[in-house]
Formats: sequence, structure tokens, C-alpha cells
Amino acid sequence: MDFALTEEQEMIRDAAREFAQKEIAPVAAHHDETGEFPSETIAMAGQLGFMGIEVPEEYGGAGLDAVGYALVMEEISAADAAHSTIVSVNNSLYSSGILDNGSEEQKHKYVTPVATGEVVGAYALTEPQSGSDAGNIRTRAVLAADGSHYVINGKKSWITSGSVARFIVVFAKTDPEQESRGVSAFIIDTERDGFACGKTEPKLGIRASATCEIELDGYRCPVEDRLGPEGAGFKIAMGVLDAGRIGIAAQAVGIARAAYEASLDYARERKAFGEPIGSFQMIQAKIADMKTRLEAARLLTLRAAWNKNRAKAAGLRNTTEACCAKLFASEAAMFITHQAVQIHGGMGYSRELPLERYFRDAKITEIYEGTSEIQRMVIARQETGLR
Ligand code: CAA
Repeated sequence: MDFALTEEQEMIRDAAREFAQKEIAPVAAHHDETGEFPSETIAMAGQLGFMGIEVPEEYGGAGLDAVGYALVMEEISAADAAHSTIVSVNNSLYSSGILDNGSEEQKHKYVTPVATGEVVGAYALTEPQSGSDAGNIRTRAVLAADGSHYVINGKKSWITSGSVARFIVVFAKTDPEQESRGVSAFIIDTERDGFACGKTEPKLGIRASATCEIELDGYRCPVEDRLGPEGAGFKIAMGVLDAGRIGIAAQAVGIARAAYEASLDYARERKAFGEPIGSFQMIQAKIADMKTRLEAARLLTLRAAWNKNRAKAAGLRNTTEACCAKLFASEAAMFITHQAVQIHGGMGYSRELPLERYFRDAKITEIYEGTSEIQRMVIARQETGLR
């Protein structure tokens, strides 16, 4: 067993840290305040290979593994979680599903421009009536009589990058009589007729991630843009979430680290009753609990990332590892950012410091890509074999 990063992994982490601290951290508050999509910094991330981290070089990506992905996600998240949300959806929810299930033509046509950062990708599973119960989607895809295309109708909600994405992997029912086995996946081009964006969600945190509703109204999807076989969509969606949840765990670690490091500095500098507040036992207890949860969250996240390709090669799922990492890291991020605001007192509550933003941003990691309740349900089902 070796807990050390390789030299290459350290280089990736350092490059991501330098980019995130130099380019993203200074604009994070502006994008949080305005909700404006960070097109400029996302384009820079594309040039550095961060929009297609695990995408093989032949499809325009950086050709790294899931550990590299987790390291980059932690660094970008420590600077700004809205940026890392866009990065994570592009990498795992969008690209990994096409890489694992797409044809050669689909990989070249739909992954390459997204991995290079030329355009943005998104993933549309959730609907107004179906969030956790993902098999209950109502969006319908009907195959035309001549078999050349599907006509898709329906509404999707909470779509990260929905208003800026060029391509979106959309899940729709091709056989409504079946539950999850009647779901198929499609790659849609938002420049075609029949696609429209609905309202943008006014959110508590990650405010610049362009989360919106999308509507498909008679959208004609060529049959060659179906992803995988008919009826395989639900398993594609779940497999993608196994990859995505590692990214969200790493995002939680990054947000938590930023809050922890700020708290450590403040505990050393801020004086009360003639002493640095870090010399008081009540602050020391907070620091120790924050540090322990941060380290444990990072270990679970890197382990889930390390196991991803190993599991795949053995024909196994990485579901439990990904869910454990996301569950623990997201709850650790909530705990750590909460303590960080408390350590900073009034300054933690003020918008002059990023602490209150970390606290707001951390909350989403317990909700998207499966709530903590869903992670617990999946872990328990996997462990017991019961439903
Ligand atoms: N990999 C491959 N197959 C899987 C799988 C996985 N991880 N998980 C389940 N399956 C398969 C099952 O084996 C089963 O196969 P069979 O039909 O052959 O038996 C099939 O899928 C159905 O599985 P379940 O019976 O377990 O399905 P369920 O209806 O009980 O639901 C669930 C399972 C875990 C609750 C699932 O619905 C779920 O994960 N819900 C949460 C959805 C979610 O995370 N949504 C977030 C969307 S993305 C987002 O957040 C927005 C964004 O832009 C960031």
C-alpha cells in the first residue's frame, strides 16, 4: 500500500492549483454575485485539458485517470465550486457516458469538441416530478415510422450548464410500459429545432453554473445519435453517476479544504482576551475535528478514484466506493464550512470573505448527483443485497 501521489500526479495537482488560484479564485466572488457563466476561465480550463481529464488523447482529452480527475476537481473547487460544477458535468456526466457507451463516430463528433473546451456538454436526467426516483421520468422518445429518427418531447429540470451547453445527453422513455428498462439515452444538439431553455434556477450556491430547465418539443433526434441500445438508458445514467459521484466527493473536499485553511490562518492571527483564538481549547477541538474529517474525506475520494479502473477491468461496479466517498465528503464539507463560519464569527457571516460562499456552495454536494439519503440507500442495498 502506498499513499503517496506519483510524480506525475503531483505535477497535475500543482498545475491545477496554480491555474485555479491565479485565474479562478480572483473572479469567484464576481461570478457568485452576478450568476454570470464564467466563459473565459472555462475556456482556459479547456486549453489546459481540464474539460476532458479522463478523455483519451485521441478524442482531444488529457488522457489521465480518475485519480488525476479527483486531484484537479479538488483544486478547482478550492478556488470556486461553480467552476468545478461545470468542469465535473463536462468530464463525468457528459463525456464518460459517451466514452463508455458511444460509437467511434459519436466519440469523435461529440466528445472531442467538449473535451477541448470548444463547447460545453451537459446531462439531463432529472425532471420536475422525478429527482431521486430517476426511473420515473416522463420525457418520451418515439421512433419515426421510417426508423430514421426519434421525436422527443418533455421537460428536464436542474440541468447544469443547460443554457450554455452545445450538446446534452438526454434520457427519455422509449417504452413507457417498462420502468427503468424502458429508458434510452440520446445525444442532442441544442442548435437544432425543438430545443429550448426554460427558467434559470435562482440558487443558494454555485450560482454561476447556469442551472436551468430545458424543454424538448418535437425535437428530431437522428437514430445514430441514440447512445447505446434502446432500453439501456437507465443503466447508462447510473454508470455515469458512479463516475460523477467521485467528482462531487472531490469537489466537497476542495470546498472543505479552502474553508479549513482559512480557519487555520484566522485561528493563528485573530486575538481575543490577549491570545490567538487558536490557543483556546474550544477552537482547537474544532480544528482537530475539521482536519480529521477533511483527511478522511480525501482518502475515501482518492480510494474510489483509484478503484474505478480496477473495478472496470474486473467487470465490477464502483458504486459503493463512489457513494461512500460522496456521502462522507459532502457531509464533512457541510460540517467543516459550518465550523469555519463559526470560527470567523461576524467575519464568517460577512460577504467580504469567501467563508459564507463556501458554506452555501457546500450544501449542494449533499443534494446533487444523488442526495445523502439516496447514497445511504444505494450503499445499504449493495451491502445487504436486499431492496
Ligand atoms: N450501474 C449499472 N447499473 C445499475 C446501477 C449502476 N450504478 N444502479 C442500478 N443499476 C441497474 C440495476 O442493476 C437494475 O438493473 P436490472 O433492471 O437489470 O435489474 C436497474 O439499473 C434498476 O436499478 P434499481 O432497481 O436499483 O432502480 P431504482 O428505481 O430502485 O433506483 C436509485 C435506483 C439508486 C434510487 C436511482 O434512481 C438513483 O440513483 N437516484 C438518484 C438520481 C440522481 O442521482 N440524480 C441526480 C441527477 S444529475 C444532477 O444532479 C444534476 C447535475 O447537473 C449535476
